[in-house]
Amino acid sequence: MSITALRNTTRSPGLPPALVEALKAIVGEKGWSDDAMTLEPHLKDWVGYAQGSTPLMVMPKNTDEVAAVVKACAAAGVPVVPQGGNTGSVAGGVPHGEVLLSLKRMNRIREVDAADYTMTVEAGVILAEVQVAALEAGRFFPLSIGSEGSCTIGGNVSTNAGGTAVLRFGNMRDLVLGLEVVLPDGRIWNGLRRLRKDNTGYALKHLFMGAEGTLGVVTAIVLRLFPKPLEVATAFVAIRDLDASIELLALLRAATGDALSSIEVLPRIGIDIAMQFDPEVGDPLEGKHEWYAIVEVSGTKADGQTNATLEAALADAMEQGIVLDAAIAASTAQAKAIWRIRKALVLNLAKVGAEVKHDVSVPVSKQPDFVRRATAAVEKTVPGTRTVAYGHFGDGNIHFNLAAPEGMDAPSFMARAADLHRAVYDIAAEYGGSFAAEHGVGIVKLDEMARYRSEVELDLMRGFKTLLDPKGLFNPGKVLP
Ligand code: MLT
Ligand code: ZN
Repeated sequence: MSITALRNTTRSPGLPPALVEALKAIVGEKGWSDDAMTLEPHLKDWVGYAQGSTPLMVMPKNTDEVAAVVKACAAAGVPVVPQGGNTGSVAGGVPHGEVLLSLKRMNRIREVDAADYTMTVEAGVILAEVQVAALEAGRFFPLSIGSEGSCTIGGNVSTNAGGTAVLRFGNMRDLVLGLEVVLPDGRIWNGLRRLRKDNTGYALKHLFMGAEGTLGVVTAIVLRLFPKPLEVATAFVAIRDLDASIELLALLRAATGDALSSIEVLPRIGIDIAMQFDPEVGDPLEGKHEWYAIVEVSGTKADGQTNATLEAALADAMEQGIVLDAAIAASTAQAKAIWRIRKALVLNLAKVGAEVKHDVSVPVSKQPDFVRRATAAVEKTVPGTRTVAYGHFGDGNIHFNLAAPEGMDAPSFMARAADLHRAVYDIAAEYGGSFAAEHGVGIVKLDEMARYRSEVELDLMRGFKTLLDPKGLFNPGKVLP
C-alpha cells in the first residue's frame, strides 16, 4: 500500500471544526497529529487484537494542557482515549474513532527523593528510565516487565502492571504513594502525596489504578523506591514436576530470609521454542526435563553471600528431590542469558502457530492442579493444541498460552478461541481465580467480565463510572461490559 493510500484510508474527519481548532491551539504545533504514518503505531495493539482509528491525536506536554484538552472535549461531548506506550495485551489503549490523548510528551522526572525513598514522575516516562533514575540515586524501582523499554509508567499505573518481581515487591498498586489525575470533566485532582500513612477517608488513588483510563487520565505519580540490591543471584533449575515449584518457592523464601525476588516457571516446550527462534539462546543444562524455573535472589549487602545462600538452598532442594539439576549464573552476562530464554519464549510463541493467550491467576498452591486440569480440558476441546504454561509462580499468575496444533491453520484455531477461553477460565474460576491477572480487561475480556464478575461488583463499578464520567466519554467500550 502506498503512503498516500494509507493516509486516505486512516484519516477520519468527524470532529467539530471548532473543537479541532481549540485542541490544536491548546497543545501547540508539536502537540498534535492527524498524519496517518504518525498515527499508525498508535492505532493497533501489538498482539493483533485491534485495528483502531482516530480523527486526531493530541500530545499535551503538561497537566494543564491535558486538563484543557479534556475540558474542551467534555464540552463538545467528544470521547477521549488515553494512551501510554500502547504495549498492552487487551487493546485497552486503542481508540475507535475517539480523540487519542497520548501522554508521551509528559516525560519529565519531576523529583527523586532518596531520603524519602520516593520519585515523582510524569505519566509518559518510560519504565526503564524510571528504573535507571532510581539506581542513579542509589535506590531501586522494582517493577519489571517484558515491555519495560517502551511502556510508560502512567500506563503501568492505569493497568496495575505486574511482572516478575510481584512476589517480593507487589503490583504497581503497591508501588504508588500518590497520583495526579485529570478527571473526565477536566478538573485536576492533585493527590501527589508521598505518605506511607494517610487514613483520610476513601483511598481514591486505588480507583484509578487498573481502571485502564476509563475514569480519568493519570498525569503524574509518586512512586515508592527501595534499597538498591547490591548482589543478585540468578539460577536456572530443572524441577521434579510442577508440584515441586511450590515446594521450591517455600524452601527458597525460608532459606534466603525472603529475599527471593522471582520464581518463573517454564515448560520444556518453552525452552525449545526459545532456542528455535532465537539463535542466542542456549540450554544452560545438559539433560532434558519437563519443567524448569528461573529463580532470582536479591541481596542489599555486598558481602558475596547472595550466591552462596542460593547455592546452599538449591543443594538442599536437590537433596530433597525438588530440584533435579541447576545452573547458577557466575556473571551478569550469564544471568542475562538465563532471562533471555524467557523473553525469547514470549516474543516467539506466536510464530509457532496462532496463539490463544490466557493471563490467569489462582491461589499460589493451586497452580499445579490448575495447569494439569486446564491442559486436559484444552486437549479435549481442540486435540493436539500445544499448551505453553509459564509465568510468575511466586504470585499465582500463569500465562496459560496455547499454540495451534501442528498442521492446523491460524483461522481454524482462532475460531475455537472462545471455546478454549471458556474451558480455561471456568477452571480458574473454580479455584477462585481471575481471568485477567495482570494484563487487564480492555476490549478483549468484556464477555468474561460479564460472566465471572458478580452483579454486585459490576453495579459498584458502573456506579463509580457514572459518578466520575456521567457522559461515558472516557475510554468508552473498555473494561465494563
Ligand atoms: C510476561 O510475563 O512475559 C507476559 O505477561 C506474557 C504474555 O504476554 O503472555
Ligand atoms: Zn506476565
